[in-house]
Amino acid sequence: PSPPTTQLEGKHYPIDEWTNIPSHISSALSRKLHLQPSHPLSITRRLIESRFPSPTYQYHNDLSPIVSVHQNFDSLGFPIDHPGRCRTDTYYINKDTVLRTHTSAHQADTFRSGTSDGFLISADVYRRDAIDRSHYPVFHQMEGARMWSRNECGASGGVAAVIREEIESMPKHGINEPLRVRWVEAYFPFTSPSWELEVYWQGDWLELLGCGVVKQSLPKNAGIPDKIGWAFGVGLERVAMLLFGVPDIRLFWSLDERFLGQFKGGEVSRFVPFSKFPPCYKDIAFWLPNSSSAAGGQVPFHENDMMEIVRNVAGDLAEDIDEFTHPKTGRKSLCFRINYRSLERTLRNDEANSLQQAVKRVLVEEFGAEVRE
Ligand code: PHE
Repeated sequence: PSPPTTQLEGKHYPIDEWTNIPSHISSALSRKLHLQPSHPLSITRRLIESRFPSPTYQYHNDLSPIVSVHQNFDSLGFPIDHPGRCRTDTYYINKDTVLRTHTSAHQADTFRSGTSDGFLISADVYRRDAIDRSHYPVFHQMEGARMWSRNECGASGGVAAVIREEIESMPKHGINEPLRVRWVEAYFPFTSPSWELEVYWQGDWLELLGCGVVKQSLPKNAGIPDKIGWAFGVGLERVAMLLFGVPDIRLFWSLDERFLGQFKGGEVSRFVPFSKFPPCYKDIAFWLPNSSSAAGGQVPFHENDMMEIVRNVAGDLAEDIDEFTHPKTGRKSLCFRINYRSLERTLRNDEANSLQQAVKRVLVEEFGAEVRE
């Protein structure tokens, strides 16, 4: 018999014990929100593009999200034991192929193609992650990079100054309210020095972008050893949430005209919420068997597994999941509070109950959990 395969974007890929792509993720591949002309993510993309004009910067907006482990990690110098490579964090099609976790997956190839000194790459990226108002397992990034000849730009200190100048004003563009932003020193395997730009939003510091001076191994491996450059990767949802006042990241995926109908290509406008529907909190506490085997492999249950189970059952009806510690028990049990809420209507309690029942069923049947009543 022929080995099992999965079909993505019209192509067949062999699957193996690394495969972990649920249907709610594969169905997102075709959405391409950053290319829908009057979608806030596309408006945000074009706004940033206008600050990095062609032909100095070449735009790439339709690169396939299916990349090799080499492109996503190895080509950027990620060490072999980097946590980002784990199946708990990354969607694998098979052991050699992933859904890109960042647009940096295309840096090496784009530098090597040598068609321009600068580029902007906008694309959907995929990460197993928490469920809350600013995290979604699919989001959009824009990668920007610019190369110079060494003698053109002087020392790398010069490049560092340019990147910070260039980027600092970018997320503020078009925003009228004063915005609190701060630079934080960061670490990425492929840039040095590196920084993150954060913005204060709904009571928390939110990461907007990562950036830095590209490590010399990249241009060297790309066959342009005499070049030096900088790169950034900005989260388009995060910028769009600020620009348009969108309070919940799930809204970008809405097909509701009350959302989509509010925006027009080329215009930044404030989102007007269509009334706030009530939340519905459900708690669940359970024990796992000691040799719990998540999806076949002998790996411990990861918080992201819980996120994925709920996301699979409830889709965008899950707003938030919190892990909490149950007060009086010696045995380690896992407790989660799930907030079910529709952005489009009032969810009935019996609907939330049946979602919660379905989550329980998966925990019991697939993970051998013992649910505490
Ligand atoms: N790819 C990094 C991330 O997703 C961001 C980044 C891009 C950092 C380019 C430095 C340079 O977190």
